[in-house]
Amino acid sequence: MRLRKEIIFITTNAHKVEEIMDLAYAEAEDITIEQLEYDYPERQLDAIEEVARASANYIMENMEIKKPFFIEDSGMFIPVLNGFPGPFSAFVFKTIGNEGLLKLMGGKRGDARRATFKTVVALCETSEKEPILFVGTVEGKIANAMRGEGGFGFDPIFEYKGATFAEMSTEAKNKVSHRGKAFRKLLNYIA
Ligand code: IMP
Repeated sequence: MRLRKEIIFITTNAHKVEEIMDLAYAEAEDITIEQLEYDYPERQLDAIEEVARASANYIMENMEIKKPFFIEDSGMFIPVLNGFPGPFSAFVFKTIGNEGLLKLMGGKRGDARRATFKTVVALCETSEKEPILFVGTVEGKIANAMRGEGGFGFDPIFEYKGATFAEMSTEAKNKVSHRGKAFRKLLNYIA
C-alpha cells in the first residue's frame, strides 16, 4: 500500500485552489492538497521569486504549521511595458484592471502585444530548511479586448494560441499555464 502524502496550500484565492486541486486530482493520486485560508501580508519586492520567498519565511516565523506547506505568487509581464505589471500585478489588477491594461496596450500590434505569465511556488518542508522554489512560465499575448467567462484576474486578456485563458476549461489552462507548470514541478519533487 502506498502512503498518501499531505501538503497544505496557504492562500485565500479560491481560483488558484480550484486549478491546483484539479491538477493534483488528475495527475497525482498519492498527494492530498489541503487549503489553509490565511491572508499573510505580501511584501512589495522587485521579483516574484523574492515575494514568494519572503511570504514563505513570514509564515514559517509566525505560524506553527506541522505539515509541509506551500504558497505561490504569480504575475504577468509585458515586455513592451518594460515588464509591467510584473510583481505589481495584484495592485494593478485592483486599480486599473483589465480595461486599464488594454488602454495602455492601445495601438500596440503584433510582437509588441507579447506577454508572459509567471508563477513561483515556494515549498516549506520543515522550519529548519529554506523554502524551495519552483517556477513556471507561459508565453502569450494581450488580446485586443476581454474575452471569455472563466478563470480570474487577467485571464480574459491573456491569449494563448488564439484563445484567452478565460475561454479555456480549467483542465486546458492547467496543461499550458504558468501555474500548471510550476505546480507539476512541485508534484514531481514531492513524488
Ligand atoms: P497574486 O499571485 O495573487 O499576487 O496575483 C497577482 C495578480 O495576478 C492578481 O491580480 C491575480 O488576479 C493575477 N493572476 C495571478 N494568476 C493569474 C492567472 O492564472 N490568470 C490571471 N490572472 C492571474
